Amino acid sequence: MPHLLFVVTAAGGLDDVADVAVAPLVARGWTVQVVPTPNAQTWLRSTGSMDRLAELTDLPVTAGSDYPPYRTATEARPDAAVVAPASFGTLNKLAAGIGDNRATTKLNELFGIRPARRVVILPNVNAAHVRHPAWERSRAALLAVPGLRLLLDPDVAELNEPGEPHPPLRWDLLLDAVGDPSVSPG
Ligand SMILES: Cc1cc2nc3c(=O)[nH]c(=O)nc-3n(C[C@H](O)[C@H](O)[C@H](O)COP(=O)(O)O)c2cc1C
Repeated sequence: MPHLLFVVTAAGGLDDVADVAVAPLVARGWTVQVVPTPNAQTWLRSTGSMDRLAELTDLPVTAGSDYPPYRTATEARPDAAVVAPASFGTLNKLAAGIGDNRATTKLNELFGIRPARRVVILPNVNAAHVRHPAWERSRAALLAVPGLRLLLDPDVAELNEPGEPHPPLRWDLLLDAVGDPSVSPG
């Protein structure tokens, strides 16, 4: 079964991950391995979503590093990956190649696997984040990863200012971009 690494970070919308994203991907035939960041795990635990994700995917869900690190070759070299919702902090870390937890470590490695894997990122960032001087560099670095799709409104005006409601996350675009397991990355 095609294997999809699904990284969840501590950003708004993470409680929708199970029902709006993971369930449909499992239904399409993906074996989905959810790896939360440590911060996301704390949030998911507080709402009971960790159990729901494990039940949906039939795999353990943990932010903790495991040893040996991979149980199978497909887990070491997944066919595709998703980062959603992706926080500003994790996006900058990935752009710089910083692997300070299990999720970022796995993604850093995946970005260099060839042939390139399909990687779909759905950020939850606001207008202040994208005005940060680090963002242009990070964005360019991420877009240089072969096979990576960054689903972010190009116009800052479409993003909310801090403290204002965030426009709904485009889970529909994420599911479209991931596609079916049988389709190769484009
Ligand atoms: C209630 C709350 C909501 C947050 N929402 C976001 C968000 O939508 N996007 C974001 O980039 N950071 C958000 N943050 C900040 C991140 O949680 C914080 O930067 C954290 O260190 C990210 O960790 P991670 O990327 O390792 O999961 C939020 C923080 C809190 C307390």
